[in-house]
Amino acid sequence: MALPWRMRTIIEPFRIKSVEPIHMTTREHREEALRKAHFNLFLLKAHDVLIDLLTDSGTGAMSSEQWAGVMRGDESYAGADSFFHFERCLQEITGFEHILPTHQGRASERILFELVGGPGKVVPNNTHFDTTLANVEHSGARAVNLPIEQASDPKNRHPFKGNMDVRALEALIDEVGVERIPLVMVTVTNNSGGGQPVSLENLRAVRAVCDRHGLPLFLDACRFAENAWFIKQREAGQQERPVRQIAREMFDLADGATISAKKDGLVNIGGVLLMRDEALFRRATSLLILTEGYVTYGGLAGRDLEAMAQGFREVLREDYLAYRIRSTEYLGERLLSMGVQIIEPPGGHAVYVDAQAFCPHIPAEQFPGQAVVCELYRAGGIRACEIGSVMFGRHSRPKMELVRLAIPRRVYTQSHIDYVLEVFEDLHKKRDDLRGLRIVEEPEALRHFTAKFEEIV
Ligand code: F0G
Repeated sequence: MALPWRMRTIIEPFRIKSVEPIHMTTREHREEALRKAHFNLFLLKAHDVLIDLLTDSGTGAMSSEQWAGVMRGDESYAGADSFFHFERCLQEITGFEHILPTHQGRASERILFELVGGPGKVVPNNTHFDTTLANVEHSGARAVNLPIEQASDPKNRHPFKGNMDVRALEALIDEVGVERIPLVMVTVTNNSGGGQPVSLENLRAVRAVCDRHGLPLFLDACRFAENAWFIKQREAGQQERPVRQIAREMFDLADGATISAKKDGLVNIGGVLLMRDEALFRRATSLLILTEGYVTYGGLAGRDLEAMAQGFREVLREDYLAYRIRSTEYLGERLLSMGVQIIEPPGGHAVYVDAQAFCPHIPAEQFPGQAVVCELYRAGGIRACEIGSVMFGRHSRPKMELVRLAIPRRVYTQSHIDYVLEVFEDLHKKRDDLRGLRIVEEPEALRHFTAKFEEIV
């Protein structure tokens, strides 16, 4: 990467052309908004949020070139220029021959697992993201997570904590039988495991297992560029390679991929389903047309395809990735230095705070993560996401009680993050005052989106 100067400060590699005001609110206003939202931050109006760290998905800022692409979008129903531009761009980056646009990641997952899943089937992954898991199970198949052992220890600083446990994969294949496994999936970076990367060495080892058993390997490649950047930084012998080449090697090891372009596609909506196999592609095309849209737009507008093509190019810029990963690391390291335990090392797209360590006086059944999330909002207008007993605890207790601070791409500057740190510092001093919550109303499934809570006094 050519730098104009030996920079000590990694600056945002862009200047701002269009701004969107955020809304300052008083503590009283937020207190009232939180009560009206029944202490569930998904039920807040976004207008009442100052810094929104709920997700990095579809919340990024597009570049001037992407907006120019929006104007160039060819809105022809079939055979639009924008499709061929998008297809060429993804073929160049990934090397996959068959490229289907979808409206977002879960649409790609739904099509894939409707084709290869089904009752009796078993799908291994380092860790399934919730929608992937739901789509595997919706098909009647069983989803199995095989992260390495270090992944569940917040303090372990393994450089590739997203890796799949290759021995556990072999054991699973032996146990259930190869004929019941339609494919092996690896999520890069591993979102549910703390935004942690997977090494090339691990991908090669998983590939070797797949080859021995004749199994296809698919990537859930939502954050492929962030993963490739971590490989360049951390894996022996990778430092001099262009990140684009590393990303290409990741894809070369796989037979296909699902991508939510709302992450490393740098767009607000869009997804991709990619594969090499001609027969699978034909079947996927039929399903795409059935529920998403014709094959050259897949449920999107031509302008969305232009924005995606440009986004996938921009995300591989090394000045962007250096800034992106450093900004997340900055938040994580500063939290650690004030004594807030996070999943170490900080992830690519998010920092995951260990809420159980933050408020040990609140037992898991009173939702320590939700207590932290509510107080972050009340104190500073910050919206974060609980990933613990509220999200996963309906049937069994999850291993960790976490609060995810996800960083939208190219949206907030360092001073916004310094403000988040300031709020955390205050909260950390007063953490003994945090109160647990109880659920007063909840739906059958995915309760975190709509459950209502009250504070325990
Ligand atoms: N796979 C991973 C690893 C994800 O993180 C997500 C979405 C998806 C698939 C599904 O993509 O939302 O476009 O349908 N993650 C978002 C998040 C929602 O907040 O982590 P989608």
